[in-house]
Amino acid sequence: MPHDWDSPEYVRQWIADGDKADAQRADQIKLLASLIQCRSQECIHVLDLGAGYGIVTREILTAYPNATVVCLDRSAEMLKHGKERLADNLSQLDFVQANFDTSDWLTPLQENQCFDAVLSSRAIHHVVDERKQRLYEEVFHLLKPGGCFANHDLVRHPDEPVRDSGNPLGTLEDQIRWLSEIGFVNVQCFWRDGGRAVFGGYKPASA
Ligand SMILES: C[S@@+](CC[C@H](N)C(=O)[O-])C[C@H]1O[C@@H](n2cnc3c(N)ncnc32)[C@H](O)[C@@H]1O
Repeated sequence: MPHDWDSPEYVRQWIADGDKADAQRADQIKLLASLIQCRSQECIHVLDLGAGYGIVTREILTAYPNATVVCLDRSAEMLKHGKERLADNLSQLDFVQANFDTSDWLTPLQENQCFDAVLSSRAIHHVVDERKQRLYEEVFHLLKPGGCFANHDLVRHPDEPVRDSGNPLGTLEDQIRWLSEIGFVNVQCFWRDGGRAVFGGYKPASA
C-alpha cells in the first residue's frame, strides 16, 4: 500500500502500528542521539528530518535537555501528533511543514539557521537516490563546523532491485560513499541489521 502521509486515517494507523514497534528500535534511536557528541547541558540546535510523531526529538531532549529542535515533516497530520506528544517541551521546538522531495524544503527554515546536528529516522528512504544525494549536500551546508549528520533508515542490499517509488531504498554502500564525496568525515555505519542501518558522518571542524 502506498504511503499517504497527508491522510489523517493513514497517519493514525501508521502511528498505532509504530507505537507497538517503538521498543524494538529504542536502541537505534538512542544511538542516533549519542552520535551528536556534545556535552549534555549544551544548548545545541538540532534538525529532526522527517520527524513524524517525534520519537527522535524526544530522545534528543532526553540526552540534551537544553536543546532546541526543528521538527520538519511534509505531513501536517504527523506534525499535529508530534506537537501533542511533545507538548511539555513546546518552547524548545519549532514545527516546520516542508517536503524535502525538492530543495524548496530549505525555504521555510529561518535564514542563516545552522545546526549542531541533523538526525533522521526512516524518512529519507522515501526519496529517490538522486534526490538523497542532493539532500545530503543540503544537510552538509546546514551544519555548523563539526556538526553531526546521522540517519537511521532502511537500506537495500546491493543485489536487490530498486523497489516502488514510495520506498526507493538506496544501498548503504552508495550512501556512505556519497557522504564522503560531499565532504563529511568519519563517515561510517554505526549499526546494521539486514535492511536497517544507522550511518552518518561529521562536517569537518575547519569547514
Ligand atoms: C516512517 S515515518 C518516520 C517518522 C519518524 N522519523 C520516526 O522514526 O518515527 C516517515 C516520515 O517521513 C515523512 N516524510 C516522508 N517523505 C517526506 C518528504 N519528502 N519530506 C518531508 N517529510 C517526509 C513522513 O511524513 C513521515 O512522517
